Amino acid sequence: MADITESPEWTALAEHHAAIAGRHLRELFAEDPDRADRMTVTAGDLYLDYSKHRVTGETLTLLAALAERAGLRARIEAMFGGEHINVSEDRAVLHTALRLPPGEALTVDGQDVAADVHAVLDKMAGFAGRVRSGEWTGSTGKRITTVVNIGIGGSDLGPAMAYEALHDFADAGVSCRFVSNIDPADILGKLAGLDPEQTLFVVSSKTFGTLETLTNAKVARRWLTERLGDDAVARHFVAVSTNAERVAEFGIDTANMFGFWDWVGGRYSFDGAIGLSLMIAIGGEAFREMLAGFREVDEHFRSAPFEANMPVLMGLLGVWYTDFFGAQTRAVLPYSQRLSRFPAYLQQLTMESNGKSVRADGAPVIAQTGAIFWGEPGTNGQHAFYQLLHQGTRLVPADFIGFAEPFEDREGMHDLLTANMLAQSSALAFGKTAEEIAADGTPAAVVPHKVMPGNRPSSTLLAPKLTPKTLGSLVALYEHIVFVEGTIWGIDSFDQWGVELGKVMAMDLAPALTSPEPPSEAPDPSTGALVRRYRELRGR
Ligand code: F6P
Repeated sequence: MADITESPEWTALAEHHAAIAGRHLRELFAEDPDRADRMTVTAGDLYLDYSKHRVTGETLTLLAALAERAGLRARIEAMFGGEHINVSEDRAVLHTALRLPPGEALTVDGQDVAADVHAVLDKMAGFAGRVRSGEWTGSTGKRITTVVNIGIGGSDLGPAMAYEALHDFADAGVSCRFVSNIDPADILGKLAGLDPEQTLFVVSSKTFGTLETLTNAKVARRWLTERLGDDAVARHFVAVSTNAERVAEFGIDTANMFGFWDWVGGRYSFDGAIGLSLMIAIGGEAFREMLAGFREVDEHFRSAPFEANMPVLMGLLGVWYTDFFGAQTRAVLPYSQRLSRFPAYLQQLTMESNGKSVRADGAPVIAQTGAIFWGEPGTNGQHAFYQLLHQGTRLVPADFIGFAEPFEDREGMHDLLTANMLAQSSALAFGKTAEEIAADGTPAAVVPHKVMPGNRPSSTLLAPKLTPKTLGSLVALYEHIVFVEGTIWGIDSFDQWGVELGKVMAMDLAPALTSPEPPSEAPDPSTGALVRRYRELRGR
């Protein structure tokens, strides 16, 4: 496998970067005023304006050539077709199968994947319907009003983000809470005020071996059984997992288990069974609309030519800034309070996927890989960190995400929200020159402080309304952006070996913290000293 940085396409981009890096977006727009109309693309309900990027038509051609060199077309087909592109785990990568339309066939490794997916979706919808209608009750016959999802990482962030985004669609009087951290403050805070008779726990874990989830689930089980007795577990606990044996070991009836498969990565899983809590809240129909939104972007990704392909363009722009401009981070700025967990969700999706420094074949990566994703909803971010975005020394490409229609409005707030989004992306791109500031009557000594350099790139994504369908499309968009970037870098975006060592070490260290014996050997002197200090503080 040749390193992409050694390709003529990479060299051409490096040369092109040297030629245009000094050019300002003001100049690019002055030379090519039509770019605002031309540099847009639509995928389903999503509309992307990418004209405020530091690119010309030539840049886009060169980036598309890089994608061809990396074999992106064939890779896309390999993913959709179920080839084992997760090489380090020898697995297919088939989250796109979770949203296959009914009637479309897909057999992978001899397994009828499409039938499996629809069987689970039907089982979920049946169960969600029974909980929503009150047919499924708790052990004392009362209806369920709160679902507590216990999971972490992909078994938490997806459904938690989506529930927050879509809670206007929660129309059956069932609300959700999400417990993830092994900090007792999380579960105790979430259990506070709940009526055990009306609470359903969904224990979500792909492996059913994750310390945080199993520990929280034990705390929840004790909380329940102390109040309602051991027999209550059957009516108040269900599981989502790929591991039936461990689910049964924990004491959950596998008849109340919702399965998925090793070809769905945890961070790519909430459109399948991991979305059970969400489905209970919003209903099977809204959940299926969300899947249709995913599917629309899947189909667009698979069929649109690179120059009109939203995930391809955004992925290539990610590579452009990461590798040629040296940008370290990417801000995600939803102008929607309901998307407040979207940046956190994207952190796992993007950084667990593309935070790699070896290629799929084990050789070191020469390029820079995954950017650090972060963000907050606008306008809160404006009053916190936007100062650095506008005038700091770092280049931070940003994704603005907005919606035309609010769910409810007061005092024209939604228009003000949108006006702020548009103002910020414009100010970032075009700034304000010293001459313009001086012309406003600003004293000369203050002028440099007020100069807004501009030339700070951003994408703007605009959709009609934050619905289940739009959310599905938005998530699929970022899933495929990750895929495009990972393909260019030649990495395996679907494993996560980097999280394993810390997990093992924590299990080794735990006894040293609790034992009454003198501290045993620590992995390093610093950690040893901290263990001793911790034990002193705890009187051990
Ligand atoms: O943090 C590592 C990780 O394996 C994630 O990839 C995953 O989403 C999370 O832990 C939870 O894993 P599980 O669903 O198996 O409990």
